[in-house]
Amino acid sequence: MRFACSGGPARPVSESRRRPPQGRKADDRDDRRIGGPVGSARTFYGRESAEWSVSDAEFDRIRKLLYEKAGIHLKESKKTLVHNRLQKRLAACGLTSLRAYLDLLNRDPEGRAELAAFVDALTTNETFFFRHPEHFEFLVNDLIPRIMERKLASGSTRRIRIWSAACSSGEEPYTAAMCLHQNAERFRGWTFEIVGTDINRSVLEKAKAGLYTSYAVSKMPDAFRRRYFTADPAAGTFRLKDEIREQVRFHAANLLQPFSFGKFEVIFCRNVMIYFDAASKEAALSHLHGSLFPGGTLIVGYAESMLNHPDRFRYIMPTVYQREDAASADGIRGKT
Ligand SMILES: C[S@@+](CC[C@H](N)C(=O)[O-])C[C@H]1O[C@@H](n2cnc3c(N)ncnc32)[C@H](O)[C@@H]1O
Repeated sequence: MRFACSGGPARPVSESRRRPPQGRKADDRDDRRIGGPVGSARTFYGRESAEWSVSDAEFDRIRKLLYEKAGIHLKESKKTLVHNRLQKRLAACGLTSLRAYLDLLNRDPEGRAELAAFVDALTTNETFFFRHPEHFEFLVNDLIPRIMERKLASGSTRRIRIWSAACSSGEEPYTAAMCLHQNAERFRGWTFEIVGTDINRSVLEKAKAGLYTSYAVSKMPDAFRRRYFTADPAAGTFRLKDEIREQVRFHAANLLQPFSFGKFEVIFCRNVMIYFDAASKEAALSHLHGSLFPGGTLIVGYAESMLNHPDRFRYIMPTVYQREDAASADGIRGKT
C-alpha cells in the first residue's frame, strides 16, 4: 500500500479546517502544552490517539536526525517539546508509535518526503513585526545612507540587496520593506532587493500569503499597521498590502549549505544561531560571510555573540558585525 502523510501545503481541506484558534502560533505554545514524553496522547486536533512515549533511544535518534538536517542542537530537556510537536506528524501519518514514525523516516521514498515535515515540526518559528525595532531604525537611518554614500563614491550600481536568513513567516523582511518604503523619498533612484529564506517550507507559505494574526502585528507602530495592512476584525487577521508583499522574494534555504542567490550588502540572521551548536554556527557563519559583499553588514540576535570570529567579522556594536576582509576592511568596496 502506498504511504501518504498529510500536512503542510498539501493538507486536505477537511484537516486544515481543524486548525487551532488564531493567536500565537501553535509551535510557540507547545512548550507550555499539557502532555509529555510518556502518557496519554491527545492529538493536535483534540482527538484521542494511542498512547506513545519518547524513549531515550528514540530521543537520541530524533536529535541526531534534526542535527544532521538543520544543525539544530536539541537539549536533553526538550523531550516533552519533541513529544508535543511530533504528535501532529504521527497523526498525519496515521501512526500510533514513535518507533514506526522513525522507521518511516528511514524509508525511501516516503521517508524522504516526510523528513521535511519532521524538520518543519521541530523548528521554532517565533517572530513578529518590528522585533528589535532599533535594528530597522539603524537600517534606514545609518546603514543604508552609508552604503549609498560608498556606492556613489565608487561608481557602483544603485542597487542594495538585503537578505533575511531564517525569516520564518516573513515578518522580519517585510518590516525592512515597510521601513524602506516609508523612506522612499530619501531613497529615490535606488533599487532594493529583499530576499527571505527559511528551512521550514510551511512558514514560507505563510510568508508568501501575507496574512497575519493580531499577535504578529501587536508590537508594530499603529501608523504602519494602518498604512500597510487591511484588517479583518471578524476574522482577527491582518492582510499585508501587495505593495509591500511584492517587495520580498522567498526561497527555501538551509543555512548549513551555501546560499546561491548572489551577494548582499546587509544580512539579518537573528534568533536562529541560538539553536545551533559550535559546529553548525561555524558552518552558517562561513556561508553568511560568503554571501556578504566585502564590508557588508551582518545583524544577529542579542543572544548570538560572534566574538570568536574576529577574522571574518568585525564587531561594530552589539548584534552588528561587518564582513572582515584583509583587502577591504575599511568598508564596502567592489562594484556591485
Ligand atoms: C525563531 S525564528 C527567527 C525568525 C526571525 N529571524 C526573527 O528573529 O524574528 C528561527 C527560524 O530559523 C529557522 N531555521 C532553523 N534552522 C535553520 C537552518 N538550518 N537553515 C535555515 N533556517 C533555519 C526556523 O525554521 C525558524 O523559522
